Amino acid sequence: MKRLYGIIGFPVAHSLSPVFQQTAFDLSGLDAAYVPFAIPPESLQEGLKALDLLGVSGFNVTLPHKEAVFSWVNDLDPIARKVGSVNTVVRRTEGWFGANTDVPGFCSALKCFLERSVGSEIKYPLVLGAGGSARSVVTGLCEMGFSSFTIVNRSRGRAESLVECFRRNGMIHAVEVLDFEEFSRWDPNGIDLVINTLSRDAFRERFSLLDRTDLVGVKGFYDLSYELDGSLTPFLKKGEKDGIPVEDGIGMLLEQGALSFEWWTGLQAPRREMADSLYRRTVKKVTPLQ
Ligand SMILES: NC(=O)c1ccc[n+]([C@@H]2O[C@H](COP(=O)([O-])OP(=O)(O)OC[C@H]3O[C@@H](n4cnc5c(N)ncnc54)[C@H](OP(=O)(O)O)[C@@H]3O)[C@@H](O)[C@H]2O)c1
Repeated sequence: MKRLYGIIGFPVAHSLSPVFQQTAFDLSGLDAAYVPFAIPPESLQEGLKALDLLGVSGFNVTLPHKEAVFSWVNDLDPIARKVGSVNTVVRRTEGWFGANTDVPGFCSALKCFLERSVGSEIKYPLVLGAGGSARSVVTGLCEMGFSSFTIVNRSRGRAESLVECFRRNGMIHAVEVLDFEEFSRWDPNGIDLVINTLSRDAFRERFSLLDRTDLVGVKGFYDLSYELDGSLTPFLKKGEKDGIPVEDGIGMLLEQGALSFEWWTGLQAPRREMADSLYRRTVKKVTPLQ
């Protein structure tokens, strides 16, 4: 019988996951379909029940459901437990299992960028944003051995609660929190990497980072966002203009998807072919990480 997998989110029609996940299932000779399910937040519990009744074997989770699904699953992998969010759900005989592949996906993509394009040791990152993906980024940075950084967010309260949560579990020590206003007056001396997790809306009204001319010690700009036409995001354009190596989030997107596929099937994901299918859809050349 054909197995059913998918992605839940709201909205979800824009998701690229069906493109490369279907390629992975087809190439691995598995009789499976991967489909998007648009589930509004107010209908999440009914939506999850429906997936259960339909016999769905596993699914990805995107905005705005990652934290709610964390509380819904029966068991968690250690990374999901640390982050407090789930992006991969696996049906097991003993119940629903939740994993987080955003963190290892981010770590692999960042390491690859640092090795390929930056080439020197990074000591002090600046993280822009304090939403769901910033949580994964902070966890990933801690896993990579960073315990000191600065977080900049529009709303200070959200950044402070993120930091507090990581402080409580002993993962971070020296963290500075700034809002946009404070950031515009702040001395970035010592910062050598800037990671953007802010959503695109942040750059619609001109964000003060784009006006800064004093990012002299910065050796890399990494953006979780990406443009489908292969152009640079507004954040990365700023880095490129200043002669700083830049990288967007498409490598992370692909890697977190490859790891989800591995959770569901136990098979090695066909990363090269998944990347090619993404390229055909987006005109953006993607180099798989492994
Ligand atoms: N490459 C990948 O695999 C991958 C994975 C996950 C996410 N992402 C991308 O990362 C981005 C953020 O995702 P998320 O899950 O972290 O979203 P989120 O939880 O909604 O967080 C959004 C962040 O952007 C800020 N923001 C939103 N609108 C703003 C505005 N008008 N002005 C200033 N700041 C604004 C928020 O600040 P406040 O706290 O003040 O609201 C918050 O820090 C998205 O573009 C997403 O596509 C990529």
